Amino acid sequence: MATSPQPGPGDGVARTNLLLGGLTLVFFALAGLLTKNLWGHLAPKQNIPLVDRKFLETTPWRQTYADLVKAKEDLSDYDCYGCHEKNKPPPIRYDANQKIVIPKEHSDIVMGHGSHDRNNNCFNCHNEANLLTLQVRDGRQVGFDNIPQLCGSCHGPTYRDWEAGAHGRISGSWDHTKEGQFTRLSCANCHNPHAPRIPTREPAPPPHPLRVPTPAAESAATP
Ligand code: HEC
Ligand code: HEC
Ligand code: HEC
Ligand code: HEC
Repeated sequence: MATSPQPGPGDGVARTNLLLGGLTLVFFALAGLLTKNLWGHLAPKQNIPLVDRKFLETTPWRQTYADLVKAKEDLSDYDCYGCHEKNKPPPIRYDANQKIVIPKEHSDIVMGHGSHDRNNNCFNCHNEANLLTLQVRDGRQVGFDNIPQLCGSCHGPTYRDWEAGAHGRISGSWDHTKEGQFTRLSCANCHNPHAPRIPTREPAPPPHPLRVPTPAAESAATP
């Protein structure tokens, strides 16, 4: 019976050495080619400036009365009866063009509610019989910490959207059964009640490509 010779232990070692030696040569050759830079370089990474932090700010841009109370800030603006007399509602004055005249003590207030100043009468919202409360369309009085009730009495559909979470901002959870686990911003966190139109804002910059295209590549891309 013919038997093929078993490979001796010496054969395997020789073959491994040959392989490793060959591989070493291949790697040396590759290293040589790479230092010669045959395939060219990637464009160097540009120093990309970080986006201005103001665009990442999530705190609302207005503080409501309730926020001021919570932060224990100055509430002197709300001390109506520090200046006004009880049971003597301040008179509302209009100029010859039927524009409301704001007294200098309230010069921080710019009145402009609605496109034709349609809601500029202070007592549409403030309660003349008790300046420390707001009055809702159905005659109820609500506190300054309950602004959405006031706004909602005239802006029903928007109020409904706000309650459902489609207007304004809900944080925490979409699940309305999880009472206490989500928060809604008040209308006055975003809208100034006296001039509720949202002022236009500077848009955030577009996303930055990692490698800024060279002018040559750009002109090639645009027809
Ligand atoms: C620093 C003092 C001061 C405080 C605080 C103050 N008021 Fe007045 N307010 C005045 C003065 C002065 C006038 C002009 C009074 C007048 O003509 O009799 C005025 C006028 C008004 C008017 C009439 C505005 C107009 O255009 O004619 C309203 C409404 C009013 N105040 C509401 C309030 C309410 C509500 C508060 C509290 C949330 C308040 N004020 C807090 C001083 C103050
Ligand atoms: C659309 C409803 C509305 C009208 C109209 C309105 N207010 Fe107000 N006002 C509010 C609400 C709501 C607040 C509470 C503001 C907050 O939490 O930011 C407030 C706050 C105030 C304050 C205390 C804070 C501050 O800004 O000084 C004064 C004073 C005041 N109003 C006076 C007036 C006067 C005077 C007029 C008329 C010229 C007027 N308001 C018209 C809803 C209204
Ligand atoms: C007494 C009724 C009444 C109340 C209360 C009221 N609004 Fe208005 N609001 C109006 C009217 C009227 C307009 C004008 C609609 C138009 O011009 O088509 C208006 C317009 C607006 C606009 C559109 C912007 C603009 O200037 O045209 C916003 C936003 C707004 N209101 C927010 C609020 C907020 C927030 C509150 C609560 C602080 C509030 N409103 C309370 C009657 C009211
Ligand atoms: C998170 C911020 C935010 C909150 C909270 C918020 N709004 Fe607005 N609201 C906006 C913005 C933004 C617009 C769009 C303004 C524009 O297009 O000029 C707007 C538009 C409106 C308008 C104009 C008409 C419309 O529907 O397009 C009304 C009225 C209004 N809001 C009422 C309210 C009332 C009432 C509440 C509270 C129940 C409220 N908003 C809460 C941000 C907010």
